[in-house]
Amino acid sequence: MAAQRLLVDIHTHVYLPRYAAFLRSRTSVPRIFTRASPESGKPEERLLILDDEPSGGRPIGSQYWERDEKLKFMDRHAIDVSLVSSANPWLDFLPASTAHALAAELNDDLETYCSTGPSLSANLKRLYGFGLLPLVPQATTESLISTVEQVASLPHLKGVIMGTRGVGKGLDDEALDPVWAALEKAGLVVFLHPHYGVDKNAWGEKANGHVLPLALGFPFETTIATTRLILSGVFDRYPNLRVLLAHSGGALPQLSSRLASCVAHDPLVASRLRHDARYYLGKLYFDAVAYGSEELGFVSDVIGRADKYVSTGASAAVSSAKGTDGTAKRRAGAQRMLFGTDHPFFPPLGETEKWKSVVENLEAIDGVYGWDEADKDAVRGGNAFALFNLGS
Ligand code: URA
Ligand code: ZN
Repeated sequence: MAAQRLLVDIHTHVYLPRYAAFLRSRTSVPRIFTRASPESGKPEERLLILDDEPSGGRPIGSQYWERDEKLKFMDRHAIDVSLVSSANPWLDFLPASTAHALAAELNDDLETYCSTGPSLSANLKRLYGFGLLPLVPQATTESLISTVEQVASLPHLKGVIMGTRGVGKGLDDEALDPVWAALEKAGLVVFLHPHYGVDKNAWGEKANGHVLPLALGFPFETTIATTRLILSGVFDRYPNLRVLLAHSGGALPQLSSRLASCVAHDPLVASRLRHDARYYLGKLYFDAVAYGSEELGFVSDVIGRADKYVSTGASAAVSSAKGTDGTAKRRAGAQRMLFGTDHPFFPPLGETEKWKSVVENLEAIDGVYGWDEADKDAVRGGNAFALFNLGS
């Protein structure tokens, strides 16, 4: 099987049955509750995960927890392999001891979900996963490290998904240094994913459903968390830490030169980092869940130019640009971008054979100016093989 031509979805979620049952048992957000459908009168389950969630939450059904539904979705869209992650809000809302125990159980559940699923060949399954860490206030370093070790010991888990709050003070908290060190040592990929968005007062009073929190709040949360990680020097201290950003890094690619300029003009920060802020975007991985070719091309350019901003000496001088040709830079960036769908979120509103979100993300990859077929194959699956060491 030509692994380089396979389609791999690295952004696809599950609420494992144990987690869904837990959400059903709760009476406050996050929770799953049942109500009579306003249209049919029949009972329907709904998901409430955001504070002040618009539209009475979202409809939720078996596609969120049934493995067969995930596999049907994969078959329908010709997705060969999925890297499945628990969906937000993970364990964020739990006391530390509960979060630790539930993380361990859910990691075992996800390993079983993957390992007992179908295979494509003797050494390639269709399902792999991202585990969970008990990242909540009062979590002890020991509990976090032992969970990193648990995930590292489960053969089908290739990384961890995490939100942006860390143990209460965000991801730039030095308390997390032992966690970054352990993740780096274990070679686990960190999938950084939003949940909280930004201050809801920014959305005004008009009812716009989930559009503003999902289209803007989510990506800005990722933008802020990643920027704080860069500013904290985490990527200087852990240069082999591999972090994959949801939704193509939000607004960070667009704002990265402004960020670099603000750093250079701030006496508190100007000499803190080893490199120009733009350099660190070339150390990150970006999903290709941006829904447009031009957006993907732009992200690819920003990754591809990052080497130009390596500091060669004490003065943070910009090195001579390698491959100044725009196409070469764009093609270099493609090596750090990976196809994803965000399934089972964004279900079509009407009956369709294929999900618009998937079709759009595939068409976006196909249409990127300057990417050749090898680059597109890399984004569709080849990069995932390399990043997650699949099939070996
Ligand atoms: N995508 C997600 O991963 N979570 C949401 O809540 C919505 C979209
Ligand atoms: Zn997602």
